[in-house]
Amino acid sequence: MKTNPASAFPATRLRRNRKADWSRRLVSENTLSVNDLIWPLFLIEGKGKREPIPSMPGVERLSVDEAVRAAEEAVNLGIPVLALFPHTSMEKRDTMGSLATDPNNLVCQATRAIKKAFPQIGVLCDAALDPFTSHGHDGLMDGERILNDETVEVLVRQSLMQVEAGCDIIAPSDMMDGRVGAIRAALEEAGHIDTQIMSYAAKFASAFYGPFRDAIGSSGALKGDKRTYQMDPANGDEALREVALDIAEGADMVMVKPGMPYLDVLHRVKETFGLPTFAYQVSGEYAMLAGAIDNGWLDRDRVILESLMGFKRAGADGVLTYFAPVAARLIQKL
Ligand code: PBG
Repeated sequence: MKTNPASAFPATRLRRNRKADWSRRLVSENTLSVNDLIWPLFLIEGKGKREPIPSMPGVERLSVDEAVRAAEEAVNLGIPVLALFPHTSMEKRDTMGSLATDPNNLVCQATRAIKKAFPQIGVLCDAALDPFTSHGHDGLMDGERILNDETVEVLVRQSLMQVEAGCDIIAPSDMMDGRVGAIRAALEEAGHIDTQIMSYAAKFASAFYGPFRDAIGSSGALKGDKRTYQMDPANGDEALREVALDIAEGADMVMVKPGMPYLDVLHRVKETFGLPTFAYQVSGEYAMLAGAIDNGWLDRDRVILESLMGFKRAGADGVLTYFAPVAARLIQKL
């Protein structure tokens, strides 16, 4: 904690340090760099295909070859990591989310293609079943109930398969209990000792995921809500318990999600544990900002950078954001 010296006005005039750009730069406490950005991409089948997502203006679903082009853009911009999310049509979904463990699914295809073309960029893949289940939930179900331990077994298989395709970071986003430990044990046993785990440790049952569910084709599918596994937005202490457990189970990095409504949680997590901590500026946050920007209600460049700087100030080491390429250009003044 920094101390706040007590000398009073006029000995203290806080505006002195703000008087000119050079001085503001000199005393600036936080910086935003391209190294802080993780760029989530949405994948679709086909070739040379880019498909707009109406609830996320400016974001498109990309076929694998287009995702490789996006990876090239990321490399050129200095963005360190891409996160991959597949769109799955209803015909390809089933109650078990079988496609999650198919080594030829879109995530594995894109991972292989991107790592082949650009081995220097990091690839992050979710461990979760919701892009593949006909009911849109992150786990297997028995009637209305989400089955924890049975789901964890599938997540382990999904993770191993994604790592075999070349994935660098497994990001369990399902919120089942014990999944980080199970995935870590399986990775060690298979010799994947360098695979990182970035757990969606404090993930809240949020209305801000709506546009993401449109993007991956889950919106129509999802029955009910995710409140038996994602966290209650009212809880902060519980978020620290979630994070503590994931660290104990072998997470290398943790995430708080969504971002802007949970900056207090982000701050507490970083202060308490001090390990690499990330914020996800989720689809609904993107949609709000993009919508207001498109209407001319908010200044695009400033609002994007300010929203991201807020995460840095709160304690984030980096941010998953759909603004990543735009922000990278703004940061590098391209
Ligand atoms: C799936 C997953 C979700 C997001 C990332 N992984 C949605 C959900 O839990 O329903 C949300 C990302 C976003 O809204 O941008 N497990």
